[in-house]
Amino acid sequence: MKVGGTIRVPGDKSISHRALMLAALADGASRIRDILPSADVHSTARVLGALGVPVPPLSTDVTIAGRGARSLTAPAADLDCGNSGTTTRLLAGLAAALPFTSRFVGDASLSRRPMRRIADPLRAMGAIVDVTPPDGLPMTVRGGHLHSIEWRSETASAQVKSAILLAGLTAGVGVTVHEPARSRDHTERMLAALGVDVETRGASVRLAPADHLAPLRMRVPADPSSAAFLCALAALAHEGELVLEDVCLNPTRTGFYAALARMGANLTLDEAEPQGGEPVGTVVARASPLTAIALGRDDVPSMIDELPLIACVAARAAGITSIRGAEELRVKESDRIATVVSNLRALGANADELPDGMCIEGSTRPLRGRVTTRGDHRIAMAFGVLRALPGNAIDIDDTACVAVSYPGFWDDLARAVVS
Ligand code: S3P
Repeated sequence: MKVGGTIRVPGDKSISHRALMLAALADGASRIRDILPSADVHSTARVLGALGVPVPPLSTDVTIAGRGARSLTAPAADLDCGNSGTTTRLLAGLAAALPFTSRFVGDASLSRRPMRRIADPLRAMGAIVDVTPPDGLPMTVRGGHLHSIEWRSETASAQVKSAILLAGLTAGVGVTVHEPARSRDHTERMLAALGVDVETRGASVRLAPADHLAPLRMRVPADPSSAAFLCALAALAHEGELVLEDVCLNPTRTGFYAALARMGANLTLDEAEPQGGEPVGTVVARASPLTAIALGRDDVPSMIDELPLIACVAARAAGITSIRGAEELRVKESDRIATVVSNLRALGANADELPDGMCIEGSTRPLRGRVTTRGDHRIAMAFGVLRALPGNAIDIDDTACVAVSYPGFWDDLARAVVS
């Protein structure tokens, strides 16, 4: 199989969510170009609309008329966050600072995901937050007069960190968050680009009280988590080269590329001019033989969403790849340790679950069978890469779920294969 061509994958999901949220809080008209028009970002747009900030259809050039945090109004109905953890957790932070009650609901997968991790700091700031036992949605947030906090988060989670930062920003109080390891820092970068006093030191971030947020003008770079699938396809191909343009190369997001290079992939990352405070560049990926690696706790935060993909790549890399320190995978859109391992086994690969990760043995034998995605977009795409390789005969039960983060994925994957 040969890959070829140049592809700009859609806009970054994390940045798209944050751009909408900050535009809603800003005073004045924000303009966002190349926002990701995926199901998760639509969830954020819908919830902001329910809070009194209409968001126009998500085209390549979106203008949002912000009137400051005080213009947000009490929702008339439950806030439906669909499948999106980022929508729920970040907007719960924002809602915690608003003088009304918001009730967050979501689909079956989202309803099972842990919310106490944000409820605890928001309560410590003065909001009243009720989570459905044992720990999930629906979640009710009664916003109040928040006070400043210094919070030590148990997990390296950008959603927890950002929920606290957005609560502090909306309430006009200072906050400090310490994490066990540094998580993706898009919220901090975007706030800094808007002139907010936010300071990062190692895995800690401090936000000074802000009374006003300037409108945002930005172009959303391509999502490195989406580009990763095409990059993996190129690395596993027999020949050819794929050029991925305009990819966000924020170091808190590029762990997958470093790991793939450690496996022997022939990759080049060429940084261009930064956009909106984010490093951006071109990734060129070429076919190359791969060998197993060991990934540990320090590797996890910068490639958390790419671990299912690296596990699928490992099924084609010589040797046994191990992934440890990744228990967070169990509370993603599905239990991604169980989902990845059971699907690899269903296809005839050797893989084992560990409490905090997995082991995968690489081989060249054909992979055949049916993949059960559990509605998880990244599982569908990771196994979609294996399905595209010659000799494999893989059936995927739900291909439509890719709409959560990468609606045109199947077309782009087909386009990347030239023969
Ligand atoms: C995200 C943070 C990560 C990631 C998710 C998006 C974000 O979750 O897995 O896909 O946009 O902040 P955690 O913060 O829970 O690690």
